[in-house]
Amino acid sequence: MKIKESKKKHQNRIVISVLVFTFIIYNYFVYSSGTENLAPKLSKEAISGQILWQENNCWTCHQLYGLGGYLGPDLTNIMSNPVKGENYVKGFINSGVKSMPKFNFTEKEKNQIVAFLRAVDKTGYFPDYQANLQPNGWVEINYKSANSTNYQPKK
Ligand code: HEC
Repeated sequence: MKIKESKKKHQNRIVISVLVFTFIIYNYFVYSSGTENLAPKLSKEAISGQILWQENNCWTCHQLYGLGGYLGPDLTNIMSNPVKGENYVKGFINSGVKSMPKFNFTEKEKNQIVAFLRAVDKTGYFPDYQANLQPNGWVEINYKSANSTNYQPKK
């Protein structure tokens, strides 16, 4: 009886050791894998732009990826928009419009904001689809990135 019990204890110890070991290995992989590669690498100029973006509260009226205030439009892809882009952004900063105040930024600061918005734009699309109304009344969705689950290339 006594021998059996000590054998059982020994087995329990082995099982617990294996579980603890697996737990440690699992946690190592969960907390060490991948995250550093997901963060976009920002240039020094873009980081200065991000600081300006935060300190001047652009985010209280504008969104990036739909997150932020809703007084002004989302600016995730403003840099790659064929009819907007750098000069357009600088124009808004220089003169303001309706409910957007004008900002007295130096040329260097405006370039920093532009560099930040350009870096944001390179990370993806928001929203990731375009809804096109068809003549028959149905809406056709075109996804912009290949990462979308239902990717349909633009015709
Ligand atoms: C008090 C709110 C507010 C703040 C703060 C603000 N904006 Fe705006 N912004 C707006 C509004 C509202 C519009 C839309 C104006 C319109 O189209 O009539 C706008 C438009 C813009 C546009 C043009 C967007 C487009 O697609 O036409 C850009 C670019 C822009 N803002 C950049 C900035 C930047 C950069 C900052 C920070 C330095 C900033 N805004 C801070 C309210 C704000």
